[in-house]
Amino acid sequence: MLVIYRSKLKGIIMPAGMVFLLILIPVFAACQAEQDYTFNSEGKVIELPEPRLESDYSVEQALSSRRSVREYSSEPLELSEVSQLLWAAQGITLPGKNFRTAPSAGATFPIYLYLIVSNVEDLDVGLYKYDPVSHSLEMLSDRDIRAEMSQTVLRQAPFRNGACSIVITADYERTTARYGERGIRYLHHEVGHVGQNIHLQAETLNLGTVVIGAFRDDGVKETLGLSDDIDPLYIMPVGKK
Ligand SMILES: Cc1cc2nc3c(=O)[nH]c(=O)nc-3n(C[C@H](O)[C@H](O)[C@H](O)COP(=O)(O)O)c2cc1C
Repeated sequence: MLVIYRSKLKGIIMPAGMVFLLILIPVFAACQAEQDYTFNSEGKVIELPEPRLESDYSVEQALSSRRSVREYSSEPLELSEVSQLLWAAQGITLPGKNFRTAPSAGATFPIYLYLIVSNVEDLDVGLYKYDPVSHSLEMLSDRDIRAEMSQTVLRQAPFRNGACSIVITADYERTTARYGERGIRYLHHEVGHVGQNIHLQAETLNLGTVVIGAFRDDGVKETLGLSDDIDPLYIMPVGKK
């Protein structure tokens, strides 16, 4: 009797346990996916102005005049300029499929953009994350991390003088899960596309920028509160020429 009761109970508990687990796993996975920063989210969302899709400045002009610029004026950047740069980097150009301005191996989209604001109209000093789908910025922290970051980028002057800096980060797992080791190479290709898009767009806006590759990875990760699976690849300070 007891044996029958036990096995009946087991029959109820086991499926119930399985259902519980099946519910928990996706919830846990969703939390993990969201958890690519780890501190002090303000939750404040800033809708960015619509990017312009036309200009009188040709791609050829931008290509021929692009240079790394390491000195900037002290003038603030306009929010529309920041909007345009972020759109050029990762903006959605095929809604529905979420395809972007830059190519991505197998449309895995492993790139995430962070923005460290120093001197931008309508944006408080702090750390933000760009959401390409809603073309908005989420404020992650209003802490002034510039001095800390300056150490991690080996005190390079452009970082100190920029009105803001775009930090291009990547989730290797998104690409290596599909392509194995080769995914690492693909990711490095991708960051180059994104960096060049920002460079060319900056040129058309008469803004200066430079790609910074020399920094301490661990320091940047810690200062930005990036989770283990997200790595910084380029830091691009931007300012008015
Ligand atoms: C992978 C990579 C890393 C770079 N890292 C830095 C850097 O840490 N600091 C810097 O001032 N410039 C850096 N640069 C910019 C180069 O110094 C610059 O592109 C080069 O001098 C050529 O100048 P141009 O960009 O004006 O054509 C880097 C460029 C690349 C492609």
